[in-house]
Amino acid sequence: MATLTLDHITYKYKKADKNVLKDVSCHFLGGQMAAVIGPSGSGKTTLLSILAGLDEPASGTIVKDGQDVLGMDRDLWRRQEVSVIFQSFQLFPLLTVLENVMFPLELNGVSKKEAAKKAEENLAMVGLAPEKYRRYPANLSGGEQQRVAIARSLSGGAKILLADEPTGNLDGENTKNIIAIFTRLAHELGYCVIVVTHDPEIAAVSDAVWKMSDGELTREAAPA
Ligand SMILES: Nc1ncnc2c1ncn2[C@@H]1O[C@H](COP(=O)(O)OP(=O)(O)OP(=O)(O)O)[C@@H](O)[C@H]1O
Ligand SMILES: [Mg+2]
Repeated sequence: MATLTLDHITYKYKKADKNVLKDVSCHFLGGQMAAVIGPSGSGKTTLLSILAGLDEPASGTIVKDGQDVLGMDRDLWRRQEVSVIFQSFQLFPLLTVLENVMFPLELNGVSKKEAAKKAEENLAMVGLAPEKYRRYPANLSGGEQQRVAIARSLSGGAKILLADEPTGNLDGENTKNIIAIFTRLAHELGYCVIVVTHDPEIAAVSDAVWKMSDGELTREAAPA
């Protein structure tokens, strides 16, 4: 299972005068769900965008299973290794639920028939009822849309799932559903799930909790 190790990562936005990430060292494991917590503006989303390959750190290394991530083709990293889930879901509004989840598969050259089959499996995995597969995202609840977004990220085949405040727009019941899905993906299917969150409930059930504070990341004691 994947091991992702960051060593002495620093990052500064172009127009900013100080580092947003300051000598960040941490590790994330396949089979686990990790939470990244910390105050607004502390650098959590910045950390995720670096993990997602959307931005390059000024210094430091990222290694996945012995392989230097920053040295590899970034498009390949983004397409095959990591998948990002956003607070605002970011589904394609003009594609049906099923088509949204088929999309990454078809992009990877899977035939329509195979893609539909696999998409249905992924939607079943997140517990969405089949009668909703032909709907458009706008006709689903927020919690259902987030489940579709997770199903779509599974279709990309990446084993590292990055989620930025995935329950930020959801109520307690839907938050519980999403937590259950992430936990299952990590514990039963070996995904490395990294969740940026303000939600103490997510932190409480995570295998590891990292706290960002003004660009510095420290490991919190494991929850009991
Ligand atoms: N594009 C940008 N250019 C310059 N500075 C930025 C940019 N994006 C973010 N920042 C700054 O970097 C710091 C960290 O931002 P980041 O978005 O990582 O925080 P966060 O921990 O995710 O906060 P929140 O909990 O509010 O989402 C903040 O001071 C922010 O103002
Ligand atoms: Mg953020």
